Amino acid sequence: NIEQTFLNKTTLITAGPTYEALDPVRFIGNHSSGKMGFAMAEEAANRGANVILISGPTNCKAKNENIKTINVVSAKDMFAEVFNYYQEVDIAIASAAVADYAPKIIADEKIKKNDLNFTLELIKNPDILLEMGNQKKDQFLVGFALETENEEANAKGKLKKKNLDMIVLNSLRDNGAGFKGDTNKIKIITENDIQEFGLKSKKEVAKDILDSIQNILK
Ligand code: PMT
Repeated sequence: NIEQTFLNKTTLITAGPTYEALDPVRFIGNHSSGKMGFAMAEEAANRGANVILISGPTNCKAKNENIKTINVVSAKDMFAEVFNYYQEVDIAIASAAVADYAPKIIADEKIKKNDLNFTLELIKNPDILLEMGNQKKDQFLVGFALETENEEANAKGKLKKKNLDMIVLNSLRDNGAGFKGDTNKIKIITENDIQEFGLKSKKEVAKDILDSIQNILK
Protein backbone atom coordinates (compact mmCIF):
# COMPACT_ATOMS: atom_id res chain seq x y z
CA ASN A 1 0.00 0.00 0.00
CA ILE A 2 1.40 3.33 -1.14
CA GLU A 3 0.22 5.09 2.05
CA GLN A 4 2.44 2.96 4.31
CA THR A 5 5.70 4.83 3.71
CA PHE A 6 4.72 7.79 5.89
CA LEU A 7 2.49 5.92 8.35
CA ASN A 8 3.75 6.56 11.91
CA LYS A 9 7.05 7.84 10.49
CA THR A 10 8.68 10.83 12.13
CA THR A 11 8.98 13.39 9.39
CA LEU A 12 10.88 16.61 9.99
CA ILE A 13 10.17 19.54 7.68
CA THR A 14 11.78 22.97 7.73
CA ALA A 15 9.79 25.85 6.26
CA GLY A 16 9.71 29.59 5.79
CA PRO A 17 12.44 32.22 5.90
CA THR A 18 14.87 33.02 8.66
CA TYR A 19 15.21 36.54 10.03
CA GLU A 20 18.68 37.70 11.03
CA ALA A 21 18.49 40.66 13.40
CA LEU A 22 20.62 43.81 13.09
CA ASP A 23 19.10 45.50 16.10
CA PRO A 24 15.78 45.29 18.01
CA VAL A 25 13.97 46.85 15.03
CA ARG A 26 15.52 45.47 11.85
CA PHE A 27 16.42 42.19 10.24
CA ILE A 28 17.69 40.59 7.03
CA GLY A 29 15.10 38.22 5.61
CA ASN A 30 13.79 36.83 2.34
CA HIS A 31 10.53 36.29 0.46
CA SER A 32 9.67 32.78 1.67
CA SER A 33 6.04 32.55 2.82
CA GLY A 34 6.26 29.03 4.26
CA LYS A 35 3.52 27.82 1.89
CA MET A 36 5.62 25.08 0.26
CA GLY A 37 6.81 23.65 3.58
CA PHE A 38 3.40 23.82 5.25
CA ALA A 39 1.80 22.09 2.23
CA MET A 40 4.26 19.20 2.60
CA ALA A 41 3.62 19.06 6.35
CA GLU A 42 -0.16 18.74 5.78
CA GLU A 43 0.34 16.11 3.09
CA ALA A 44 2.73 14.05 5.23
CA ALA A 45 0.33 14.24 8.19
CA ASN A 46 -2.56 13.18 5.93
CA ARG A 47 -0.49 10.12 5.04
CA GLY A 48 -0.12 9.24 8.72
CA ALA A 49 3.26 10.74 9.56
CA ASN A 50 4.14 12.35 12.86
CA VAL A 51 5.34 15.68 11.55
CA ILE A 52 7.79 18.01 13.23
CA LEU A 53 7.52 21.31 11.38
CA ILE A 54 10.27 23.78 12.20
CA SER A 55 9.33 27.11 10.72
CA GLY A 56 10.71 30.60 10.47
CA PRO A 57 8.31 33.58 10.70
CA THR A 58 5.26 33.04 8.43
CA ASN A 59 1.51 33.64 8.39
CA CYS A 60 0.82 29.94 7.82
CA LYS A 61 -1.04 27.77 10.34
CA ALA A 62 -0.79 23.98 10.44
CA LYS A 63 -4.22 22.30 10.62
CA ASN A 64 -3.56 18.59 11.12
CA GLU A 65 -3.16 17.58 14.77
CA ASN A 66 -0.27 15.27 13.82
CA ILE A 67 1.84 18.34 13.05
CA LYS A 68 3.96 19.68 15.89
CA THR A 69 4.96 23.20 14.87
CA ILE A 70 8.09 24.74 16.32
CA ASN A 71 8.53 28.42 15.59
CA VAL A 72 12.00 29.85 15.18
CA VAL A 73 13.39 33.17 13.98
CA SER A 74 17.05 32.89 12.98
CA ALA A 75 19.13 30.24 11.20
CA LYS A 76 20.93 29.54 14.47
CA ASP A 77 17.58 28.88 16.22
CA MET A 78 16.49 26.62 13.36
CA PHE A 79 19.78 24.72 13.51
CA ALA A 80 19.35 24.09 17.25
CA GLU A 81 15.75 22.87 16.90
CA VAL A 82 16.53 20.60 13.93
CA PHE A 83 19.26 18.85 15.90
CA ASN A 84 16.99 18.48 18.95
CA TYR A 85 15.04 15.99 16.81
CA TYR A 86 17.24 14.81 13.96
CA GLN A 87 18.44 11.54 15.51
CA GLU A 88 14.87 10.23 15.86
CA VAL A 89 13.74 11.30 12.37
CA ASP A 90 12.90 8.87 9.56
CA ILE A 91 12.40 11.38 6.75
CA ALA A 92 13.67 14.97 6.67
CA ILE A 93 12.71 17.61 4.10
CA ALA A 94 14.48 20.98 4.19
CA SER A 95 12.39 23.58 2.39
CA ALA A 96 13.29 26.58 4.55
CA ALA A 97 14.97 29.53 2.89
CA VAL A 98 17.75 29.84 5.43
CA ALA A 99 19.85 33.01 5.40
CA ASP A 100 23.42 32.19 4.46
CA TYR A 101 24.78 35.17 6.41
CA ALA A 102 23.86 37.08 9.55
CA PRO A 103 25.02 40.43 10.96
CA LYS A 104 28.21 39.95 12.99
CA ILE A 105 26.93 42.21 15.73
CA ILE A 106 23.32 42.52 16.89
CA ALA A 107 23.07 46.00 18.37
CA ASP A 108 21.33 46.17 21.76
CA GLU A 109 19.67 49.45 20.86
CA LYS A 110 18.20 50.75 17.61
CA ILE A 111 21.03 51.74 15.29
CA LYS A 112 20.99 55.53 14.92
CA LYS A 113 21.04 57.26 11.56
CA ASN A 114 23.82 59.77 10.89
CA ASP A 115 25.19 61.58 7.83
CA LEU A 116 27.58 58.79 6.81
CA ASN A 117 27.00 55.63 4.84
CA PHE A 118 26.61 52.51 6.89
CA THR A 119 28.56 49.28 6.37
CA LEU A 120 27.25 46.04 7.79
CA GLU A 121 29.56 43.11 8.43
CA LEU A 122 28.01 39.69 7.87
CA ILE A 123 29.26 36.34 9.09
CA LYS A 124 28.41 32.92 7.69
CA ASN A 125 25.48 31.07 9.18
CA PRO A 126 25.67 27.34 9.81
CA ASP A 127 24.42 25.26 6.87
CA ILE A 128 21.70 23.20 8.53
CA LEU A 129 21.19 20.80 5.64
CA LEU A 130 24.92 20.21 5.17
CA GLU A 131 25.14 19.18 8.82
CA MET A 132 22.05 16.95 8.45
CA GLY A 133 23.86 15.24 5.57
CA ASN A 134 27.03 14.85 7.64
CA GLN A 135 25.12 13.29 10.54
CA LYS A 136 22.86 11.14 8.34
CA LYS A 137 22.40 7.53 9.44
CA ASP A 138 19.11 5.96 8.30
CA GLN A 139 17.28 9.20 7.59
CA PHE A 140 15.93 9.76 4.07
CA LEU A 141 17.14 13.30 3.42
CA VAL A 142 15.51 15.69 0.95
CA GLY A 143 16.81 19.18 0.23
CA PHE A 144 15.54 22.03 -1.90
CA ALA A 145 17.45 24.19 -4.33
CA LEU A 146 16.25 27.64 -5.28
CA GLU A 147 18.22 28.76 -8.30
CA THR A 148 18.31 31.63 -10.78
CA GLU A 149 20.95 30.22 -13.20
CA ASN A 150 22.71 26.91 -14.02
CA GLU A 151 19.81 25.34 -12.18
CA GLU A 152 20.37 21.62 -12.72
CA ALA A 153 24.13 21.74 -12.25
CA ASN A 154 23.80 23.74 -9.04
CA ALA A 155 21.09 21.44 -7.69
CA LYS A 156 23.13 18.32 -8.49
CA GLY A 157 26.11 19.92 -6.76
CA LYS A 158 24.02 20.45 -3.61
CA LEU A 159 22.67 16.87 -3.78
CA LYS A 160 26.21 15.53 -3.66
CA LYS A 161 27.85 18.04 -1.34
CA LYS A 162 25.09 17.80 1.28
CA ASN A 163 24.82 13.98 1.07
CA LEU A 164 21.12 14.12 0.08
CA ASP A 165 18.91 11.32 -1.21
CA MET A 166 16.82 13.74 -3.25
CA ILE A 167 16.73 17.42 -4.13
CA VAL A 168 13.75 19.47 -5.27
CA LEU A 169 14.74 22.18 -7.71
CA ASN A 170 12.66 25.29 -8.26
CA SER A 171 13.84 28.13 -10.45
CA LEU A 172 12.96 31.80 -10.20
CA ARG A 173 13.22 31.87 -14.02
CA ASP A 174 9.95 29.90 -14.20
CA ASN A 175 6.80 32.00 -13.92
CA GLY A 176 4.68 31.00 -10.93
CA ALA A 177 7.54 29.11 -9.27
CA GLY A 178 9.31 29.63 -5.96
CA PHE A 179 8.43 32.23 -3.34
CA LYS A 180 5.10 33.48 -2.01
CA GLY A 181 2.55 32.34 -4.60
CA ASP A 182 0.28 29.31 -4.35
CA THR A 183 1.97 27.51 -7.25
CA ASN A 184 5.35 25.99 -7.94
CA LYS A 185 7.17 24.22 -10.76
CA ILE A 186 9.79 21.67 -9.78
CA LYS A 187 12.27 19.09 -10.91
CA ILE A 188 12.96 16.17 -8.58
CA ILE A 189 16.57 15.09 -8.83
CA THR A 190 18.19 11.96 -7.43
CA GLU A 191 21.63 10.54 -8.16
CA ASN A 192 20.41 8.71 -11.26
CA ASP A 193 17.19 10.43 -12.26
CA ILE A 194 15.57 13.75 -13.07
CA GLN A 195 11.79 14.11 -13.15
CA GLU A 196 10.25 17.32 -14.45
CA PHE A 197 6.78 18.51 -13.41
CA GLY A 198 4.45 21.19 -14.76
CA LEU A 199 3.16 24.27 -12.94
CA LYS A 200 0.85 23.12 -10.13
CA SER A 201 -0.57 24.29 -6.81
CA LYS A 202 1.86 23.87 -3.91
CA LYS A 203 -0.59 21.32 -2.52
CA GLU A 204 -0.23 19.19 -5.67
CA VAL A 205 3.54 19.76 -5.72
CA ALA A 206 3.70 18.50 -2.13
CA LYS A 207 1.90 15.32 -3.26
CA ASP A 208 4.36 14.81 -6.12
CA ILE A 209 7.33 15.19 -3.75
CA LEU A 210 5.89 12.74 -1.21
CA ASP A 211 4.93 10.28 -3.98
CA SER A 212 8.53 10.38 -5.23
CA ILE A 213 9.83 9.68 -1.72
CA GLN A 214 7.35 6.78 -1.43
CA ASN A 215 8.42 5.34 -4.77
CA ILE A 216 12.00 5.12 -3.53
CA LEU A 217 11.28 3.93 0.02
CA LYS A 218 8.48 1.44 -0.66
O1 PMT B 1 7.94 29.46 1.35
P1 PMT B 1 7.40 29.67 -0.04
O2 PMT B 1 7.03 31.10 -0.30
O3 PMT B 1 6.27 28.69 -0.37
O4 PMT B 1 8.59 29.37 -1.08
C1 PMT B 1 9.12 28.08 -1.21
C2 PMT B 1 10.65 28.12 -1.40
C3 PMT B 1 10.97 28.83 -2.70
C4 PMT B 1 11.31 28.85 -0.23
C5 PMT B 1 11.11 26.62 -1.43
O5 PMT B 1 10.46 25.96 -2.49
C6 PMT B 1 12.64 26.51 -1.58
O6 PMT B 1 13.19 26.52 -2.67
N1 PMT B 1 13.34 26.41 -0.43
C7 PMT B 1 14.83 26.40 -0.39
C8 PMT B 1 15.31 27.82 -0.47
C9 PMT B 1 16.80 27.91 -0.35
O7 PMT B 1 17.29 28.50 0.57
O8 PMT B 1 17.50 27.22 -1.25
P2 PMT B 1 19.09 27.16 -1.34
O9 PMT B 1 19.37 26.62 -2.68
O10 PMT B 1 19.72 28.47 -0.93
O11 PMT B 1 19.48 26.10 -0.22
C10 PMT B 1 19.71 24.73 -0.49
C11 PMT B 1 19.22 23.88 0.66
O12 PMT B 1 20.04 24.06 1.82
C12 PMT B 1 17.78 24.13 1.11
O13 PMT B 1 17.20 22.87 1.40
C13 PMT B 1 17.95 24.96 2.38
O14 PMT B 1 16.89 24.72 3.30
C14 PMT B 1 19.28 24.45 2.92
N2 PMT B 1 20.07 25.45 3.67
C15 PMT B 1 20.59 26.54 3.05
C16 PMT B 1 21.41 27.42 3.75
C17 PMT B 1 21.67 27.18 5.12
N3 PMT B 1 22.42 28.03 5.82
N4 PMT B 1 21.12 26.11 5.72
C18 PMT B 1 20.35 25.24 5.03
O15 PMT B 1 19.87 24.24 5.59
